[in-house]
Amino acid sequence: MPDDLIAHSPAPLAGARPRGALRGTIRVPGDKSISHRALMVGALAVGRTEISGLLEGQDVLCTAAAMRAMGAGVERLGDGRWRVDGVGLGGLAEPADVLDLGNSGTAARVLLGVLATHPFTTFVTGDASLRTRPMRRVTDPLARFGARFASREGGRLPLAVTGAANPVPVEYTLPVPSAQVKSAVLLAGLNTPGETTVVEPHATRDHTERMLGHFGATVRVTPAEGGGKRITVVGQPELAAAPIVVPADVSSAAFAIVAGLVVPGSEVTIDGVGLNPSRTGLLRCLEEMGADIAYLDERVEGGEPVADLRVRAGELRGAEIPPERAPSMIDEYPVLAVAACCAKGRTVMRGLAELRVKESDRLAGMAQGLAACGVTVAVEGDDLIVDGDGAPPPGGGLIETRLDHRIAMAFLVLGLAAKSPVRIDDARPIATSFPGFVPLMNRLGAGFAEIS
Ligand code: S3P
Repeated sequence: MPDDLIAHSPAPLAGARPRGALRGTIRVPGDKSISHRALMVGALAVGRTEISGLLEGQDVLCTAAAMRAMGAGVERLGDGRWRVDGVGLGGLAEPADVLDLGNSGTAARVLLGVLATHPFTTFVTGDASLRTRPMRRVTDPLARFGARFASREGGRLPLAVTGAANPVPVEYTLPVPSAQVKSAVLLAGLNTPGETTVVEPHATRDHTERMLGHFGATVRVTPAEGGGKRITVVGQPELAAAPIVVPADVSSAAFAIVAGLVVPGSEVTIDGVGLNPSRTGLLRCLEEMGADIAYLDERVEGGEPVADLRVRAGELRGAEIPPERAPSMIDEYPVLAVAACCAKGRTVMRGLAELRVKESDRLAGMAQGLAACGVTVAVEGDDLIVDGDGAPPPGGGLIETRLDHRIAMAFLVLGLAAKSPVRIDDARPIATSFPGFVPLMNRLGAGFAEIS
């Protein structure tokens, strides 16, 4: 989000043990990954796409503004209800100004995929966090289609992309398990004659594949030799506008789930949570730790499995979290670490290298923040190790959020369980993915309060 649209001074906030248990039923905002893709693919389709449940967080609003700047009709009709008038594949126009994608790695990387096979030049930038994040992971494979890039040192934003006029299809094996990279390559392949294939040795979220299928593209998914998947998109399809219902974001629900588990006596229900199997690693971990989570009214909405999740507080125990689970819960480690420090015993979260290149270095940020809250924590290589004794953690830390929404929310949740309040220096980043987090959690009884 451009800086001038954000309140200028930091907004410190504290989480403290509430007087009573957390109770009630809430619905968290729409899935961020699906929301970005709905706007992008809707803009590339022919006709009008009606979206309901769209996440209206700053990250997604950046994507909406970008698609509008390239000629798509993108209009807000009401709460989460949006209308996209697509320009047709290949029909985007050169934007008149730099695209500012704010804090959003997904917007930047996936959109670079779209731009790689649109033959004009676009300048792309982002906020101070996004400008530190690696972009070569997408510009390298996208250059193989014939796109050209000029970037800052280290392949960082701001960068300019000139899309290929005569793109050639690509077969690419992901060197890192990243749905953003996979999606960038598939969307570049969409406007390329022939077939583009991504091989992913470890499955990552598959919302792009589902969304493309929903709009009528041919996407074939077959097992890859040696494990994982081969995903092939047939280029230059007729993409037909199609209505989209965005489920509630499991990555946002995660904060309410863990809060409900660690505040004694709590019972919290979160309605309509998206349970795509490529996203549910956290729930599996929490269940292995002894969490009481019930899946109510399991159903399919808009092509994605959803359920109402009811969590009840109770004792948690430490667990070993294997590295191969990381892609299915990559955004949930901060809040899992909070659950871990309230649990009895040691939790070892293995294989977290990718956390170093998120909105902030989350491995370092979690370790420092937990230590500041009196938690026994260590980083060994790419593993995070947290010890708990089943009693409330000491708390009392002041946490630097470093433009990272999930660090901000995770430590506020820690404050709900800790002996002393936990303060964060700036709550503003929360609006990137979870607008309304504070009032929603306060409706359950969290009592998050501003501090001066
Ligand atoms: C996302 C993929 C993940 C995740 C991000 C959203 C997506 O990033 O962390 O919040 O929508 O594709 P990586 O692809 O870098 O793992």
